[in-house]
Amino acid sequence: MRQGIFWMLVVAVAMAANNAAEEGKKHFETYCKACHRIGGGRLVGPDLKGVHKKYEEAWLIKWIKSSQSLIKAGDERAVKLFEENNKAVMPDTPLEEEQIKAILAYIAQASEQSQASSASVQTTQATAVVQEESSIDPAIARSMLSGIKITLGVLLFTALIAVAVAYFGLRQLP
Ligand code: HEC
Repeated sequence: MRQGIFWMLVVAVAMAANNAAEEGKKHFETYCKACHRIGGGRLVGPDLKGVHKKYEEAWLIKWIKSSQSLIKAGDERAVKLFEENNKAVMPDTPLEEEQIKAILAYIAQASEQSQASSASVQTTQATAVVQEESSIDPAIARSMLSGIKITLGVLLFTALIAVAVAYFGLRQLP
């Protein structure tokens, strides 16, 4: 039973984080997308991939609310950023702190996703190298790969079962 509660918590936390990112995505598309991408290079403003790690959250909230106020107050990083971008003005947003936090959660999630896809490209390239190296029998390489795939499949399946158990366990509670 304890374990059930643990899994319910895991699922609840994951769902909450995901909801924040979902809400953040909406705001991002409304207020930021015209000027910023997350991975894929700069638009009007810099690429925001990984920007949640570059500054602390409190600074980002102030910047996103009103970058010009920070610049006028003489904040060193803000002034530098402004000058490096040819003094292009990022407009103020009417967003609440919670909404900005949701956008930051979405930026964090989207940054990781673009990292994950480049990692999978690397895996594919590594696979190609393994298959090209004549010292390794391609048949053995293939069977190793299918072994890895099966292991991953089993892990994913187990995780799904755990989620299902937590979910239905939750519904059966009074
Ligand atoms: C009209 C275009 C525009 C819009 C809309 C816009 N930005 Fe910006 N943003 C910029 C520019 C230009 C900069 C570079 C700094 C400057 O010139 O003031 C910037 C800089 C930033 C930075 C610092 C990036 C770094 O690498 O240091 C963050 C974070 C940021 N914007 C987040 C956002 C978010 C979040 C939104 C949506 C709520 C948003 N911006 C909407 C133009 C925009």
